[in-house]
Amino acid sequence: MQQRRSVHVVEKMGGGNGHLSYDKEGKAPHHVTTGKLSQMTLLGAAFVIVIQGILIVNFYTSGYGSGSGFANQPQRKYVHDDPAHPWHWVRENPPDPDIGKKRDCDGRLYEEMYDYFQREGWIIFRSCSLQLDEERVLDPVAEFTKSIEGDRIVNAPNKQVRELAVDPDTLEFIEYIHGGRRTFPYQTLNFPKGTQQRLHSDLVHFDSQPRALMTAAWVALEDMNENNGPLRFFPKSHQWGTWDYDEVGLHYKYDTMRDQAKDQENYGYELEDAMMKAGLAEANASEMKRGQTFIWAAALVHGGSKQKDLSLSRLSQVTHYFFEGTDYLWQPRTSQITSGKVTYIHLVKPPCKRQFLGEGGGSEPIFSCADGEIASFKNNWKAEF
Ligand SMILES: *[C@@H]1O[C@H](CO)[C@@H](O)[C@H](O)[C@H]1NC(C)=O
Repeated sequence: MQQRRSVHVVEKMGGGNGHLSYDKEGKAPHHVTTGKLSQMTLLGAAFVIVIQGILIVNFYTSGYGSGSGFANQPQRKYVHDDPAHPWHWVRENPPDPDIGKKRDCDGRLYEEMYDYFQREGWIIFRSCSLQLDEERVLDPVAEFTKSIEGDRIVNAPNKQVRELAVDPDTLEFIEYIHGGRRTFPYQTLNFPKGTQQRLHSDLVHFDSQPRALMTAAWVALEDMNENNGPLRFFPKSHQWGTWDYDEVGLHYKYDTMRDQAKDQENYGYELEDAMMKAGLAEANASEMKRGQTFIWAAALVHGGSKQKDLSLSRLSQVTHYFFEGTDYLWQPRTSQITSGKVTYIHLVKPPCKRQFLGEGGGSEPIFSCADGEIASFKNNWKAEF
């Protein structure tokens, strides 16, 4: 019943073939469209399309819609240019050609990095402003992170941690590779050691509406190596969908939402399996150097690799970012989106949107909500979020 209705919705809304998962050529992959995944993917797709359909109205009044329409696109440069793809919003606006001429401090041209990021779902970036701020920001954050007892600190009440999260060139680059949408930090995590974390897509933990307008920047606070449990990831996995619990079929296969640790463990196993079936090759960031930032797309499947030498540190800071013009944030992990149960984390927090002069009148933004979010994240460094 559910499935039939969903299929109908997909057709009615013209949302493509009803699959959220795509292979490298942008087709629904045959080898994962059997069994639960395909059903769940289909249901998930229908849900997302419905939600996005509802939200598009909001979205277009929030100042981003140019009205050019996806239907006019002659051909798809990237898989996620498909308007039914959960990540298509990042390419709604073309990249800014002036910013594209800039280079990062490893000498790489932004416009080439843009293409790489869209295609691969990750990029290693070296911020010039952070390089200039090495003594003032990077060194103290490394010291602070080294002093952490336990495996992590979330939203550390530390001035330099907050400054690292709003590093100007990093923010600008993140905005550039997400179609110029203003971005702002939501959460920081500082890790003294490798996490050996199971595979996951961050979209399990927090997501936006429309979906997947979220990103993470992982800053190496020291050089990585083969033995300190470098970040592991599956390039191009962002092209396939969201990889959240519903899409992977976890809610259906297991009795989820009773035991979070167990769920995450099962989810990790399912993803290992799914990556293999998808034929995606694994990579890791063992070559990363201090001061470089690994930026990944919201749906890139990643985790921590095994820490071969447990005595080694792996000092790092991850910041998660959301984007202006979206409603955030909800938690796919504890939601059952296919049956309409959505868990919001910040139900009372108003969405971060630009405000315009007059109701739909003027076209010049008078206030950027992202600026406010950035300022408060940076300045209220003693506050617990
Ligand atoms: C990282 O990737 C390299 C190259 O593929 C591989 O040789 C190495 O074993 C990987 N390291 C870890 C810790 O997984």
